[in-house]
Amino acid sequence: MKKTISANLPKLAIIDQDPVAVAAPALALGIFSKDDLPPIARVIDEKLGGQIRRLMSDGDFTGADTSSAVIYPPRESGVKAERIILVGLGKREKLSLRVLKSRAAAAAKRALGLGVTELSLPFDLGTGAEIDAAASADAVVLGAMLGGYRFREFKGKKKVNTNNDENRRKNIETVTLIGNKETDSAARRARVVADCVYLARDLSNSPANHLTPSLLASRARDLGKKFGLIVDIYAEAEIEKMGMGAFLSVSRGSHEPPALIVMSYLSKRKGLRTVALVGKGITFDSGGISLKPSLNMDQMKTDMSGGCAVFATVLAAARLRLDTDVVGVIPATENMPGGGATKPGDVVTAMDGTAVEVLNTDAEGRLVLADGICFAKRYKPTAVIDLATLTGAAIVSLGSKTAPLFSTDEKLQTRLQAASEASGERVWPLPLFDYFEKDIKSDVADIKNIGKGREAGSIIGATFLKHFAGTEQSWAHVDIAGTARADGDYEWVKKGSTGFGVMLLVKYLEKLDEDEAS
Ligand code: BES
Ligand code: ZN
Ligand code: ZN
Repeated sequence: MKKTISANLPKLAIIDQDPVAVAAPALALGIFSKDDLPPIARVIDEKLGGQIRRLMSDGDFTGADTSSAVIYPPRESGVKAERIILVGLGKREKLSLRVLKSRAAAAAKRALGLGVTELSLPFDLGTGAEIDAAASADAVVLGAMLGGYRFREFKGKKKVNTNNDENRRKNIETVTLIGNKETDSAARRARVVADCVYLARDLSNSPANHLTPSLLASRARDLGKKFGLIVDIYAEAEIEKMGMGAFLSVSRGSHEPPALIVMSYLSKRKGLRTVALVGKGITFDSGGISLKPSLNMDQMKTDMSGGCAVFATVLAAARLRLDTDVVGVIPATENMPGGGATKPGDVVTAMDGTAVEVLNTDAEGRLVLADGICFAKRYKPTAVIDLATLTGAAIVSLGSKTAPLFSTDEKLQTRLQAASEASGERVWPLPLFDYFEKDIKSDVADIKNIGKGREAGSIIGATFLKHFAGTEQSWAHVDIAGTARADGDYEWVKKGSTGFGVMLLVKYLEKLDEDEAS
């Protein structure tokens, strides 16, 4: 058995068999709306005396991409599965990898609801559609695994009082892909990526008292060791010695010591190219002296989602043995209003000597990232990409399913957009026009950490980071404030932390390898 990270990750079984003959607790099949039944569903429908067609003509199941239904084939029908989970795919002409991934996730969510521990899915959900088999298997396995995710760390530990539905529900233990030779390696790759997304979600969902900067650092050390990474943890004194005054200005309001977590994956082709990933690692953002309102402040336990995605991506790179060296830099700290906290108006000095006037201590992400980006540049990377839950304004501009993307390098931006398209994690560019720079000019220091009023909040945050990336370094910033958390389930996402960025970054790194090979 290959090493995995998450204990809750379903196992992957791969079989090459006629779905009608698969004796599984649950078999998922996709059905189009307003269209003929796909081939496998047609055979099953006939064996079931037209049950599927009747469900549809009665309007109980429409095939719309929000619909699903469960049927129980009688033993004598010749259909071996105990249950068939029908998931609507919407219109046939709109079928895409995104739809397959989302609807495989819907099947997994339905299976979880039924308490079924094993879910079997044809690699194309039985559609027979003309879609690349490997890509389809990737989408279906990722969808099924991610749809089956649950964060149960703090539930049902007490032995008594488990007589409630939520507690009785079981995890999906096995995802069985009904595939062929073409789909094997894609399915395995998908499970590795899913494992890393589980990790990012688990870490990010962890309450701040269970995931302090020190605990995040020790997780990095442990998992780094297990998967062959080089992990360096810099403590406060070393952070100070390196001149990271912006990072420290955030950590000083907390009793919890900060940690600069650096995780490096060196590929077999060491030195071919290095990509540096920087992730905001605020394990709790109270706002500091510029204290946040109490309503929903608990959500700020997910303010290290960028750091978690970076953490998980470096591990994915190692496990997929990519050809690119990847260094993940995570400045981790709480942002608290303790006695040592930075006060509005304080001036602090970043690693590159920039004097920063801190006018709002709640704009702390850009402070820790400033030093994180300066540090990352030491590796002379071909690209620096940072991920951060940086601004509430990201939610105002693009909502919670698309992340604003900023870059000083058109080519890097295009590559990230291509990775976004292929991974399904949506990013969209916002501009970094020079004129925004004057908005962060300070009266007393080189720059200040906020702009004026509420205008262009995400662009101002990105412009601040651009100052530290500089003009020579290829750099991009993804503001995941909206996409890191979900208020409810959708597509392959579950309520809570989404792990956004892992699939995007892994795809970006994989494409670098492919482009070089071609
Ligand atoms: N962590 C927040 C941003 C955030 C808001 C993430 C909502 C997720 C959901 C960040 O540190 C912050 O507080 N930003 C301020 C910046 C402002 C003071 C310029 C914001 O967005 O209000
Ligand atoms: Zn903040
Ligand atoms: Zn924050």
